[in-house]
Amino acid sequence: GEIQRLEELFTVDTAKLKAITDHFVSELAKGLSKEGGSIPMNPTWCMGYPTGHEQGTFLALDMGGTNLRVCEINLPEEVGEFDIIQSKYRMPEELKTGTGEELWGYVADCLQQFIEYHHEGENLDNLPLGFTFSYPATQEYINHGVLQRWTKGFDISGVEGEDVVPQFEAALKERGLPIKLTALINDTTGTLIASNYTDQEMRIGCIFGTGCNAAYMEHCGEVGKLAHMNLDPDQEIAINCEWGAFDNEHQVLPRTPYDVIIDKDSPRPGQQTFEKMIAGLYLGELFRLVLVDLHSKADVKIFEGQDISKLQKPYSLDASVLSDIENDPYENLQETHDAFKSHLSIECTKPELELIRRLTELIGTRSARLSACGVAAICKKKGYKTAHVGADGSVFNKYPHFKARGAQALKEILDWEKDREGKRLGRGHDPVEILPAEDGSGVGAALIAALTLKRVQEGN
Ligand code: BG6
Ligand code: GLC
Repeated sequence: GEIQRLEELFTVDTAKLKAITDHFVSELAKGLSKEGGSIPMNPTWCMGYPTGHEQGTFLALDMGGTNLRVCEINLPEEVGEFDIIQSKYRMPEELKTGTGEELWGYVADCLQQFIEYHHEGENLDNLPLGFTFSYPATQEYINHGVLQRWTKGFDISGVEGEDVVPQFEAALKERGLPIKLTALINDTTGTLIASNYTDQEMRIGCIFGTGCNAAYMEHCGEVGKLAHMNLDPDQEIAINCEWGAFDNEHQVLPRTPYDVIIDKDSPRPGQQTFEKMIAGLYLGELFRLVLVDLHSKADVKIFEGQDISKLQKPYSLDASVLSDIENDPYENLQETHDAFKSHLSIECTKPELELIRRLTELIGTRSARLSACGVAAICKKKGYKTAHVGADGSVFNKYPHFKARGAQALKEILDWEKDREGKRLGRGHDPVEILPAEDGSGVGAALIAALTLKRVQEGN
């Protein structure tokens, strides 16, 4: 009964995966065109891959969504090597709904702490910084970026529609910090560059974490919206897709009533339709909404007669709850039972536990399968028969079976069995493989800063 209804709602079969991917391919192209589309396809001014000969010492600042991280990266003379030291800071919850000034003040304070700790008493000047700012930004050059809109549940006043670089620099100046912002980058661009630095087969950088997005290299000649700049058509430029915005028009994605609620109750309704169905920030909330709905249904009545007030709190469950349930090793789902009891004061029956487990599988599987559509779409658009894809983020690194489910979906979409290239490659490797990435916001940011400085010195 109920499980079957959920299966129908959340399952995305092969035909649907293919239809989504085909639409995705045309939306990627539309985003690059003069007219634009709902996927922003932001040019990043990161022009091509590193050579491996980049050198120097760089700071990197990573403002993702969960943590704030400051790194110092040394790129020595040896090709493809690096050393890194880093400190992590908590990103206080209140900051996410505060003001721009509070945000930049906090970020600059963390940088100041890092410098005081690691460079006490040193006389420093103009330390080049790669700032990984993982939100959609319109860039006219690499140390510029107008925030298009906050994503991932952020809602900070005074930043949308503004260039974030002068705001950030003002906070540095106030504290007299010896830092020069050299490049503003996205986490996906950093992931692409850092991954390609150690594995030249890497063609796409992906984040499957709190948010979900990808970057890849495009030829300037393919980017219609840059045509007025008369760039060399064969020059490569990294494009930050911001594919979380895919299907904001609701044409292909199989949205459930729960996806509709998530969107409606978010700070930016109508935005990030794809991301809201798959990214880590939303997985726990989807799960929670389904359970609350089933409790209220006269014919299902799960948790009958129990006080579900704890479960009624929006965003009270995060993706790690689903991970733990999917990882519950006991046949009787003992760990799940105990977790519901201790965290939510709900005593689950055996059928309820079975439903809960199946629901986590459905939500986790849908996330991995839909994510694969984006990867497949970029490969199709670029005509890549084979590629490595560098991936980072909490969902990719920690969510059980995410990798295998994604690989299975890629196989269905790209029809490998029928594909000669796939057979030739055989050897247990898929033609398109999603692999753990190098540290994009550390090493990637440093490499992009180094590439930028080199270009400035060469005067182009
Ligand atoms: C980290 C990267 O590993 O993953 C960040 O350093 C990135 O730049 C992050 O934003 C994404 O994962 P999550 O799960 O923290 O959103
Ligand atoms: C969101 C952001 C995007 C980022 C992704 C992963 O989609 O808009 O810039 O790359 O999350 O962190």
